[in-house]
Amino acid sequence: MITEVIIWLTLTGLVPGLSGLPTVWGIGRSGYNSSTRKFNLSIPENIPVGEVVANIASALLNEGNSNRSVSFAIVDGDPYGRFSVHADGSLGTLRVANPLDFGVRTRYDLVVLLKCTDTYDKLCQLSNQTYAVKIDINDVEGYPPVYNTTCEAPEREDRPQRLFNLSNVISKFDTGWIHTSDLQFLTSKLRKELVMRVDNEVCGVTVVAGLKSLSDIGWANIYSSTGATLNCSSSQSGMTVQLRLVSRTNPIGEFQDLRENHLINAEWLNDVRFGYFWVFQIDSYRTVSAATIRCESTPIHFKITEQTTTYSIQFTIDKLGCARGKFGPWCDQDCVCKNRARCHGFNGACLCPVGWIGVACDIPIPAVALVTVPSQNIYIGSNVTLSCAAVHFNVSSMSLTYRPFYTKTSTVLSNQTTGIEFTMNAFRDDYNGVYRCVAETAGARDVVVEKELILNVTSCPPNLYGRFCHHTCGCKNGGRCDRWRGCVCRPGWRGEHCDRPCDRGHYGLNCQSVCACQGRGTCHHIDGTCFCQAPWDGPDCSRLLPGLEGQHLQLLGILVIPALFLAVALTNVLRKKATRHVSRQQDEDGIVLVEIHTEDEEEEEASNRRLPWERREEHLNVLKMIGQGSFSHVVLAQLRTPGKEPVLVAAKSTCLADGRDGSERCYRDFYREVDILISLHNQSERREGDNRRVHPNIVQLHGIITQSRPRRILLEYAPRGELLHSLRESRQDPDTRLSDLLPFALHVSRALRELETLKIVHRDVAARNVLITEDGVAKLADFGLARDVYASTVYVHTAHRGQDDLLPLKWMALESLRDGVFTSRSDVWSFGVLLWEIATFGQEPRYPRVPCRPDCGQLIHILTDTPAASGTRLEWPAGCPVSLYRLMCQCWAAEPEDRPDAKQLEQRLEESINDN
Ligand SMILES: *[C@@H]1O[C@H](CO)[C@@H](O)[C@H](O)[C@H]1NC(C)=O
Ligand SMILES: *[C@@H]1O[C@H](CO)[C@@H](O)[C@H](O)[C@H]1NC(C)=O
Ligand SMILES: *[C@@H]1O[C@H](CO)[C@@H](O)[C@H](O)[C@H]1NC(C)=O
Ligand SMILES: *[C@@H]1O[C@H](CO)[C@@H](O)[C@H](O)[C@H]1NC(C)=O
Ligand SMILES: *[C@@H]1O[C@H](CO)[C@@H](O)[C@H](O)[C@H]1NC(C)=O
Ligand SMILES: *[C@@H]1O[C@H](CO)[C@@H](O)[C@H](O)[C@H]1NC(C)=O
Ligand SMILES: *[C@@H]1O[C@H](CO)[C@@H](O)[C@H](O)[C@H]1NC(C)=O
Repeated sequence: MITEVIIWLTLTGLVPGLSGLPTVWGIGRSGYNSSTRKFNLSIPENIPVGEVVANIASALLNEGNSNRSVSFAIVDGDPYGRFSVHADGSLGTLRVANPLDFGVRTRYDLVVLLKCTDTYDKLCQLSNQTYAVKIDINDVEGYPPVYNTTCEAPEREDRPQRLFNLSNVISKFDTGWIHTSDLQFLTSKLRKELVMRVDNEVCGVTVVAGLKSLSDIGWANIYSSTGATLNCSSSQSGMTVQLRLVSRTNPIGEFQDLRENHLINAEWLNDVRFGYFWVFQIDSYRTVSAATIRCESTPIHFKITEQTTTYSIQFTIDKLGCARGKFGPWCDQDCVCKNRARCHGFNGACLCPVGWIGVACDIPIPAVALVTVPSQNIYIGSNVTLSCAAVHFNVSSMSLTYRPFYTKTSTVLSNQTTGIEFTMNAFRDDYNGVYRCVAETAGARDVVVEKELILNVTSCPPNLYGRFCHHTCGCKNGGRCDRWRGCVCRPGWRGEHCDRPCDRGHYGLNCQSVCACQGRGTCHHIDGTCFCQAPWDGPDCSRLLPGLEGQHLQLLGILVIPALFLAVALTNVLRKKATRHVSRQQDEDGIVLVEIHTEDEEEEEASNRRLPWERREEHLNVLKMIGQGSFSHVVLAQLRTPGKEPVLVAAKSTCLADGRDGSERCYRDFYREVDILISLHNQSERREGDNRRVHPNIVQLHGIITQSRPRRILLEYAPRGELLHSLRESRQDPDTRLSDLLPFALHVSRALRELETLKIVHRDVAARNVLITEDGVAKLADFGLARDVYASTVYVHTAHRGQDDLLPLKWMALESLRDGVFTSRSDVWSFGVLLWEIATFGQEPRYPRVPCRPDCGQLIHILTDTPAASGTRLEWPAGCPVSLYRLMCQCWAAEPEDRPDAKQLEQRLEESINDN
């Protein structure tokens, strides 16, 4: 009697999307042939451990036997214990005992023996009977998971256990409004309310958050109302980033995609209030370092305010990592890896040590390991040890051979009966080639296994060059150390160490380009930009400035003898300030400024001086916007330098990356302010031993950030803000008397005295540039940058070469307006105007019978003494004591020498405060 047998195999959970549906496998005659006692099966390689693949006992029962106690054993065909067969009560079930792998073995021919446990049982007639189970393993696409070293995550035990972290979220509009809810939203959701998925083949990470309310997240709102999309970029090269919003009712079917990819969790699926999904997707993610992601929206137009703005969100994605033995975005899945194999954090793929194969690295194979010590960073001159070892078998002989590239003959380096260690001292070029280790057993079944290793070491250790890597590069100014040639300089630099700029008249790569500047113009050594001297102008200094021809000689007079002015008080720092005006010689306002070149050597020194002040953006926690202008902004932030007390800082940034002002000039101004502040601090430091603080009436520098964008200057935070603001506010309070405000002036005069000693000229002393601390101390701030931060009309625009220039004309001394000369005494003039601002409770300086915004020429005209009358000055403010107005007028003396110096100012102010 032949019965047809149907073998049911449950494969539940194997195929995504089909889980829960019963799957029928192996129906028909091919399954079991009772006359030959053969099973014929075909199963996918990813069948889970524990799954039943055949039921031998049921076949037995179908042969007309009753349900008896028998036992089964696999006696052949399964050397590595992939399967197991159990009596399982009364049923003999064949199960998967260990992970299968198509790549290791595609077919198993098992021999299963039926054993008798009760000799009186009739079934014992069948005893010693064998069943042949033929199992074909089918390849499954995408299995086993790939171990992709690119995105290998670190193993770590500390909490939180999670593959990634999103941090430092800053989301804001370019109007300065910071959207804090994004941060709160993301951090709260990171407690497992996100769906995260990782894709190893592309090192991809997808994070999805369900949104009940659009206002949960900044741009969700904007997106839904305006359709503005985000363009993202990342600091990790090669990484692609996408941030988008998917609507449940999305017509393109993106929601369906998410659902099909199991990126929507059950709660979101069933609750229609989750109308939108925030989807963040990155590809080619490398776990070696944190990446900063920045996404910026297309322009958004607000109808109500008629404003166009953009929104940006920035955050850092950090590598965290799971504990050993765990994987998955939330580190909640168990690794199958055995034998100390490393498990991939993304998908649990195992990285087998030599001698082990299989999905779980649990199948031993005879193998030879041939490795170098060290395993990486081998250079010419390194000591390298090759070590060769046999895994899982006893060797009778083992040899290490070497064959140079492009030859056929090998030499035996070592021939032993145990493991080989071969050391090469001071690796040379001609040691490169193919190394091969061959090992064999002398047993019944000879095993010969071998392993090849190619060494192609071509580089010298860092900073060395030459045939034997004996020479040191020491390249400066971004030069690269070439293995053979030594330093390869960046454009504009030359010399063995790239430490010298191109000679005058040359510029560019290898200093090969010839300068094209005419007249007495000089060439920038890097890009050849011409710096012209008045009265010449134009890209190559060949154009004479209009309207200047007549004055030409007189101007040259000023330029030829700048030393006269410089000798007074100008220091290097002032020189740098003066460079700001390079080439800005003349325009309709008639401003002439002395041109002085910054020496190139100084540039490098400056960057060395900046180093100790460098802070990291990660340590800055932005709290809110406190001031903004069109090219820069100031945010209040907490600086948490490791090992130091957190401190509140006003972080001032400029050169915002919107293309409006990415000019070199903008950076120059930024660095100029940085350099002056650092110089100020360094000099105070020298004078006061351990005390690193700058003068108490000068704003304290806490650091700079130049290695990430935006570049920032981190300054002491003064909660009461600008003096000008305080002055205007005190108008509201009838009880405020002038004498209450004079201490501020005294403080500023002390700051000026310090600057005078240090030979630094501020050039912009004004109430708007004085900050007031919590306890009422005035501090001089704003050393030359981003004046537009306190956007006002006090700076006059002078258009020159298409750049906007802003000068505080009404605060400027006569000689500054006329000759472009700034000294400590011109700062005293500006201080006089500041006194006037205090005495008028913050009025804007106005000269009688002169337009509200006079231009430079008009100002020079009214300020200059004539034979008929002395020059006009600001008027006596109502209620101002005569002694104070007299002091102001002395500050405005036409001859700089006639003005008081900072020390005298301080004394006079002290007196007038004591008199009150
Ligand atoms: C077992 O299956 C293979 C195909 O997978 C077939 O070629 C073979 O004839 C089958 N053997 C039996 C005994 O059914
Ligand atoms: C069982 O195997 C025998 C011998 O290989 C063959 O003759 C017979 O046709 C097979 N029966 C079935 C149902 O496949
Ligand atoms: C089964 O085989 C074993 C040894 O291989 C033998 O001792 C035993 O007697 C056999 N049993 C039957 C019922 O043939
Ligand atoms: C690993 O991921 C990188 C980055 O996406 C990809 O280029 C590479 O092909 C992947 N490697 C494997 C073995 O999948
Ligand atoms: C290499 O080994 C030699 C001798 O053992 C030693 O003198 C030398 O310092 C080593 N070189 C390096 C780079 O470690
Ligand atoms: C290593 O030595 C053994 C005998 O000592 C010899 O049989 C074998 O051929 C040698 N191997 C090589 C690669 O020279
Ligand atoms: C060795 O490396 C160099 C550069 O890294 C390469 O140009 C050369 O082709 C390599 N040689 C071999 C034989 O692979």
